[in-house]
Amino acid sequence: MKLINFKWQQLILSLGCLLLIIACQSLYPNNPDAKSLKVATDPTFVPFEIQTASGNLEGFDIDLMNAIAKVAGFAVQFESLPFDGIISTLQAKRVDAAISGITITAERLKTIAFSRPYFKAGLAIAVREDNQNIKDFNSLKGKKIAVQIGSTGADFAKTIPNTKISTFNSGPEFFQDLLNGNVDAVISDAFATLYAIKNGKLKGIRVVADFLTEEYYGIAMPKNSPHLDAINKGIASLLSNGNYKQIYQKWFKVEPPQLPDS
Ligand code: ARG
Repeated sequence: MKLINFKWQQLILSLGCLLLIIACQSLYPNNPDAKSLKVATDPTFVPFEIQTASGNLEGFDIDLMNAIAKVAGFAVQFESLPFDGIISTLQAKRVDAAISGITITAERLKTIAFSRPYFKAGLAIAVREDNQNIKDFNSLKGKKIAVQIGSTGADFAKTIPNTKISTFNSGPEFFQDLLNGNVDAVISDAFATLYAIKNGKLKGIRVVADFLTEEYYGIAMPKNSPHLDAINKGIASLLSNGNYKQIYQKWFKVEPPQLPDS
């Protein structure tokens, strides 16, 4: 009798587990292996990733990542991190991916992987509105420059002779330093700077040279990531089904430029 009881218990337990598995799979009907990817972002970068007053994340990158997840059949769990910590966090595999206006560079490709390019970008020089003597790259020699720690703007500033470079964690901080008169110029991503000026978020600052460099943003992943292929395919389908264009126009109000495949 005892033995029979035990078998019944086992049967009920197995049936319960089976039901649970079926229920989970029906949440992602197209992909039985669907999972949730942890995606890092530094939400201090208009209009790519920003945190609203109520704590929600929004921006071009956030929309794009959610759209990729939808076509690829996975869920996204965003995790806010300072920009400077993103690459080491990927190397340690503490997150599955990062989307944060991250420029694909040869140096970064030594330690992490990137998706195909999803955005054409470049650096800009920003100065205080009343500044008359900085006009271009050459007039930055010997000047004080503020940059974001670990950014391509920071790498670029190092190539200009005799500069004094101040480094900051986030966009609002290095622009504040420029407004306070502590530095003569900021070198940072053109789209983010121009967007902030245009939307009245950066008063008293103007751009003197934009698109000093040609850069492409990619979604960063640990090396040999099992998700690289799905993310690349996701980007490809958004580019071909018009969804990429929709998201681009929502944030930038213009037609997106052509992107290279790799
Ligand atoms: N594109 C630059 C880079 O990769 C800066 C990106 C800054 N992004 C951010 N979310 N703060 O270095």
